[in-house]
This record gives sequence, C-alpha cells and structure tokens, in this order.
Amino acid sequence: MDKPNAIITGAAKGIGKAIAKRLKKEGFFCILIDVDQENGKELTKEFEGSAKFFNCDISSEKEVNLLFEELLHEYGKIDVLVNNAGIIRDNVIWKMPVEDFDKVLDVNLKGTWLMCKMAGEIMRKQSSGRIINITSRAWLGNRGQSNYAASKAGVVGLTRVLALELGKYGVLVNAVAPGLILTDLTQKLPQNVLEKLIEAQPTKSMGKPEDIANVVAFLCDEKTQFITGQTIYVDGGKSIGAGI
Ligand code: NAI
Repeated sequence: MDKPNAIITGAAKGIGKAIAKRLKKEGFFCILIDVDQENGKELTKEFEGSAKFFNCDISSEKEVNLLFEELLHEYGKIDVLVNNAGIIRDNVIWKMPVEDFDKVLDVNLKGTWLMCKMAGEIMRKQSSGRIINITSRAWLGNRGQSNYAASKAGVVGLTRVLALELGKYGVLVNAVAPGLILTDLTQKLPQNVLEKLIEAQPTKSMGKPEDIANVVAFLCDEKTQFITGQTIYVDGGKSIGAGI
C-alpha cells in the first residue's frame, strides 16, 4: 500500500471519529479500532475504501496481540498510532468501588501501554513512526476522578518514557490533553455540572472533537519534526489554573 496508515483506537465515535476523519483527509489509510462494532462498521462505510474496522478490546493482551498479528500480515508496517480509546467511572474516592479503579486503569493506561508496546516495536524495527496518546487535562486533578486522573497521568509518563526509548529509532511520541470537549462522554454529565464546568473555562466554552483532530494531524504531519515527549493542551486554557 502506498498510502501511510494510521491506527486510531476508540474510533467509532467522539474524538476518535473526528481524528479518523481528519487523518483520512490528510491522506492516511485509517485502521479503526473499537469495541463498538455497530458504529465502527458504519463509519468504515463512510470512508469508501480508505479504512478498515477491527474489533478489539485494547485492555486485553490477547486481543491486542492477535490484532497486531493481523495488521502486520495485512499492511506490513505501521506509520501512526493514535491511542484515543478511554473511559470514565467517576466518583469520590470514598464511594468508588475498586472495580471502577481497575476498569479505568485497564483501558486508559494498560490498553494504551499494550498498543504502544506492539506498535512501538514495529516502528523501532522500521526506524520511523509517530505515536500520539490522548491523555486529559484532568491528569492535573479533578474531583471525583482519582481513577481517571491517575490513568491519564500515567499516559503522560508513558509518553515521556517512550519518547526517550524510541527517539533514536526515528519514532516521535507525544500526547494531546483535551479539556472539556463535546462528546457522548461529557454529555453523560448532569446539566448543572456541565454548566459549572463551562463557567470555569477561561474561554467560557467547550471544545469540539475537531479541535483535537487538528492537533493530532499536526503531530502526524511529515513536516512536523523535532517535537517529542510533549503534552499539548487543547483545553480552552483550563490548565492555566484558577482564573480568579
Ligand atoms: P467517547 O466515549 O465518546 O468515545 C470513546 C470510544 O472508545 C468509544 O467508541 C468506545 O467504544 C471506545 N472504547 C472504550 N473502551 C474501549 C476498549 N477497551 N477498547 C477499544 N475501544 C474502546 O469518548 P471521547 O469523549 O471521544 O474521548 C476520547 C478520548 O479523549 C478518551 O481517551 C478520553 O479520556 C479523552 N478525553 C475526552 C474529553 C472530553 O471532554 N470528551 C476530555 C479529555 C480527554
């Protein structure tokens, strides 16, 4: 295949879907990964031959290993990996069951690590590649998200280490930290909570999935060189701190 390819996890909807659409526009063949088969397959149809859907739970070592066996067989190379799949199970720590800690860490951190391990090895051998991990501004701290913030802080640490380990092999690894973005994930929040969150934004607004896709496209671009190990905030300024 002449086209560069890009794996996007959690591509069936929200930010992942916007990233996939943008990378298709940039000329990538998109390898769409999700556990949501219905939306994943539906989206693949829209891509008219420039995408293929693979059903894979990124938190399962077995499924990830099988996925990469298939991908290597079919494409023989991986140019870009965007680790976007993520979940929330919010609660204050005294009400949070340990299962909700495990589940969030399993998908957001272990799943991202498993995908990086497999793709990173292929990229190391081919001496090229880009990895973009979607973390969250919440890694800096959000009440009710001890599991989620810890998982996303882990993703920032993972990104920095992989930039060190893979840099000399021509592989650039960066993270994008979205703030409040309008997707199913944030639409699940109670209206009054959402209003308070918007009010706390320096921009007094939410971002769109396309705002994240834009920065991912920049980080994947051949012309973008010499940036690695960084976390780029796309959060309407929320990461600056208290705006009072
Ligand atoms: P979403 O809930 O709309 O979509 C997430 C996708 O990931 C879904 O299609 C889901 O099926 C898939 N997924 C979940 N678990 C999976 C697994 N084990 N294996 C494979 N696929 C799986 O979420 P959204 O809002 O698009 O978020 C995307 C990423 O951006 C996540 O990592 C999230 O933590 C992060 N983020 C989102 C923010 C927001 O405001 N929406 C803010 C900061 C970060």
